[in-house]
Amino acid sequence: EATTTVTAACILNLCFSEDCFHLLYMDNAGMKKGIVLKDDWPGYSLDLFTYPEHYHEDIESVYIPHGIIMNRVERLAGYIMDDFADNNNIMVLCVLKGGYKFCADLVEFIKVLGRNSNKYLETRVEFIRLKSYLNDQSTEELQIIGSGDLSFLRGRLLMFFSLFFTCTKSVLIVEAIVDTGKTMKALLKHVETFEPKMVKVAGLLVKRVPNMAESLTDYVGFEIPNHFVVGYALDYNEYFRDLNHLCVISKTGKMKYKV
Ligand code: HPA
Ligand code: MG
Repeated sequence: EATTTVTAACILNLCFSEDCFHLLYMDNAGMKKGIVLKDDWPGYSLDLFTYPEHYHEDIESVYIPHGIIMNRVERLAGYIMDDFADNNNIMVLCVLKGGYKFCADLVEFIKVLGRNSNKYLETRVEFIRLKSYLNDQSTEELQIIGSGDLSFLRGRLLMFFSLFFTCTKSVLIVEAIVDTGKTMKALLKHVETFEPKMVKVAGLLVKRVPNMAESLTDYVGFEIPNHFVVGYALDYNEYFRDLNHLCVISKTGKMKYKV
């Protein structure tokens, strides 16, 4: 009990002092480019939050609490509303499985913001499934499983007064994590063959890796060091998707769920 109190006090102190900016700060130069979590950000002690009991040995720390994720997602929805203001509708392409929570929350905030302003942006959501990770390692090839047919992105040909118009779509790709950008580059190339009016990418997390692909991602939630994180629909061999916070997996967790 006493230890818990001290840990809480230390972390809160740290974060209300100027040192907070050392751990977690906003890069004013690019608010759409994400809140930067520095390499030495240890995450929050598990004692400070609630999480499913069955994971208590499997996670090391709460890296980004669910509440912070949600508010950041709401902020991203605001940027998206501004940038898509000239469109009546938006084709959201959710990259499964890891992107499902981010996508669901983002679309929900876009709807709420639309209702509370006079700019309602109609959203249509489609899903694509990609797989490139086994254990915590990126595998060489990118597999597009699930619907590879994105022809719904192609604009329809409309006829008015004997004139033809192509009604093109604006696309928002929603992905949980972008690191080297290999997957995203391949997906963008694929989407562009359907000649959309505009394509933007929202990534909840961008990882700082050599050759990181931050320029590919228009809306970034958080820029994080090259750690393997789980929760908020991100998995380790299909485990941890039911965890609300983004967490760092422990050695025990890695062993327990290895395939
Ligand atoms: N966590 C879960 N899945 C991932 C990650 C990660 O950090 N990076 C790429 N896929
Ligand atoms: Mg995965």
